[in-house]
Amino acid sequence: MSGFQTNNKVISWLDERLPIFSMMQHSAIEYPTPRNLNYWWNFGSLAAFVLVVMLLTGIFLVMNYSSHTSLAFDSVERIMRDVNYGWLIRYLHMNGASMFFILVYIHMFRNLYYGSYKAPREVLWWVGIIIYLAMMATGFLGYVLPWGQMSFWGATVITNLFSAFPVVGQSIVTLLWGGFSVDNPTLNRFFSLHYLLPFVIVGLVVVHVWALHTVRSNNPLGVEMKGEADSIPFHPYYTIKDLFGIGLFLMFFLAFVFWAPNFFGEPDNYIPANPMVTPPHIVPEWYYLPFYAILRSFTMDLWIIPAKLQGVVAMFAAILILFFLPWLDTSKVRSAKFRPIYRQFFWLFLVDCLVLGYVGGKPAEEPLVTIGQLGTAYYFAHFLIIMPLLGKLEKPKPLPASISAAVLKEKA
Ligand code: HEM
Repeated sequence: MSGFQTNNKVISWLDERLPIFSMMQHSAIEYPTPRNLNYWWNFGSLAAFVLVVMLLTGIFLVMNYSSHTSLAFDSVERIMRDVNYGWLIRYLHMNGASMFFILVYIHMFRNLYYGSYKAPREVLWWVGIIIYLAMMATGFLGYVLPWGQMSFWGATVITNLFSAFPVVGQSIVTLLWGGFSVDNPTLNRFFSLHYLLPFVIVGLVVVHVWALHTVRSNNPLGVEMKGEADSIPFHPYYTIKDLFGIGLFLMFFLAFVFWAPNFFGEPDNYIPANPMVTPPHIVPEWYYLPFYAILRSFTMDLWIIPAKLQGVVAMFAAILILFFLPWLDTSKVRSAKFRPIYRQFFWLFLVDCLVLGYVGGKPAEEPLVTIGQLGTAYYFAHFLIIMPLLGKLEKPKPLPASISAAVLKEKA
């Protein structure tokens, strides 16, 4: 680590004992970063920004929230009406969750396009998937807390999925509920875990950035940095670019908070939870919809395997398959910029995910069920058939000799 130079005696005294300034100098100031990163590389820092917003607003919400089933709904309404700026804190938190997923989905698709999951970034990618799983769990737990109709019935449907597992299924559900139905113990444990998990995510993000700084950033060309000419220091170039990104993002985010705060929400959740009345159409939050469509695509029992179990396994497999992507993609070339055929399949896959999302949000009726089944088949085919074959069959375009060679050629 390069030594940190300063004339300030107090800072150098501290830095010799705890090299916090040297670390900043090394990892946030001098840190060599590819000179050609485009705006798609802003989304990691944006996700980190929203994570902080979620933690801060969450901590203030808890000051007025009550996690007892007889008080939860009213305590949220009180936050909205009586607590000073309570509405703002709640709307920031509610919409922040949707923003977090939008940003992370863009971040993930950026990685798919530029092959950022390929060697040597496999562990960085894995940590990302674990963060994503933790985010899914946190979002689900949080949605239950206002104790509206969708909170209650969403929790009932999703926890019940575990009952599909043979032998132990029902015991898992009882354990999750803390009883024999979704009730006060369920709400309490969900609240406890919803508060805990974001801090686990913070820890995972530290590991994520650690792995990133070990292998360094990929870039739009997908060729590694070779010499000094290929990189620029992180500060001031990318600190300014990241801040600019945060400014633009805040306009987008706050437009929802102030003008359409319930855009991503479900009106039924403004009705207090009622175990005696099932809403006609139970839908999860938008960010789970593609996986919900995969879950519901399995409609026929196969021998001794019930349809529900097939769906649950497929839903988990849809995420777990991402762990194997660095090996399922057999291409030697990272960036889709040089892979003309993969590029088409990338867009097709994105459309497939959007179609699945659409199907997941609609009632399970024809022709949507069949469309969902085709979409599910294509989802898995993309990873298990197209990626392995394409890597072998496609002829990539020639790669530039280096980042600087390509950048200077473009300028000329
Ligand atoms: C809380 C959520 C997350 C945060 C705060 C975060 C943060 C970051 C940051 C700051 C970077 C460097 C800047 C950039 O490349 O955009 C990065 C890179 C990366 N992230 Fe994430 N990330 C998150 C979630 C994820 C997820 C869910 C995945 C994958 C499933 C992932 C995979 C990666 C990969 C592969 C890179 C390297 C990209 C490259 O160098 O081209 N991250 N992340």
